[in-house]
Amino acid sequence: MDEKGPDAASHSALLQPSGRRFTAAADRTVLASAAESGIAMTSSCRNGTCRACLRPLHAGRVAYRIEWPGLLPEEKAGGWLLPCVAYPQSDLVLGD
Ligand code: FES
Repeated sequence: MDEKGPDAASHSALLQPSGRRFTAAADRTVLASAAESGIAMTSSCRNGTCRACLRPLHAGRVAYRIEWPGLLPEEKAGGWLLPCVAYPQSDLVLGD
């Protein structure tokens, strides 16, 4: 259960170490929400295969709608995410 409840439509995202923040809508990728807030994250394919957007997920949970994005199982378990295909399920703290 999300700490904001099942009806929460968006979450807050904090980039570290810069301290920049943006609103991460639950129905949009983290990359798309950042872009809408004027925060450009490194990206290329935007479909979860090239890994250009790979960055650490320090806190929070995300879900992927594609079968298996270009993350190794160890990376997924070890707190890395692909913002171009990750949908927020809670507030997030991620690397710049
Ligand atoms: S932009 Fe290619 S994996 Fe995210």
